[in-house]
Amino acid sequence: MPSNGIFISFEGIDGAGKSTHIDALAAALRAQGHSVLLTREPGGTPLAEQLRALLLHEAMDPLCEALLMFAGRRDHLQQIIEPALGRGEVVLCDRFTDATFAYQGHGRGFDLATLRTLEQWVQTTPEGRLRQPDLTLWFDLDPAIAAERLAGARVPDKFESQPVDFFRRVAAGYAARMAGDPARFARIEAQGTLEAVREAVFAACRTRPWWREGRA
Ligand code: TYD
Repeated sequence: MPSNGIFISFEGIDGAGKSTHIDALAAALRAQGHSVLLTREPGGTPLAEQLRALLLHEAMDPLCEALLMFAGRRDHLQQIIEPALGRGEVVLCDRFTDATFAYQGHGRGFDLATLRTLEQWVQTTPEGRLRQPDLTLWFDLDPAIAAERLAGARVPDKFESQPVDFFRRVAAGYAARMAGDPARFARIEAQGTLEAVREAVFAACRTRPWWREGRA
């Protein structure tokens, strides 16, 4: 299936505050005339949402966790993401594979080479190219501040209840993924006001050819 859509993922440690900005970017892109699809991982299809419930609440060994993340991702790509990109839509995805490298790889210490193999298996398109987001917005926030923001906000899931040190490793994992593919990433300084962070998100998008703001 030819793909001329735009695939944007949102990443960051829990509490970094990406959710509000996904909605704001969706609204801006719709106002520019784009057709926008909002989705998330783990999840995004009925099957993958069932896997999400298991992943967020059941204890399991790290290989099992990585396999279920990628199993859900495979279904999500096939059922939702690839068809939407084929229709020329903008897909905004709350987390994608960088989260697996950051959380399962760097956070839990699971073997990165195995994750890279799974990434190849799951994300290779029928045309033989590796599907990755066109743009990844990484909301970078000091894990100590993120923990303060999360404290008391809601009942924490399996990942949110991890200690700050876990999130320091996750943040280092995101930094490593960005270093490996700098053109795909935009690092968003997530410590500022809501307005400042939103402006940083829009500034990152303005550099991209598909951004239509102010165009005749
Ligand atoms: P999150 O976007 O934080 O959902 P919510 O805001 O509703 O809590 O994602 C759920 C959790 O799943 C988050 O703690 C990160 C974790 N996760 C992984 O560990 N690996 C992955 O590959 C993905 C996509 C998410």
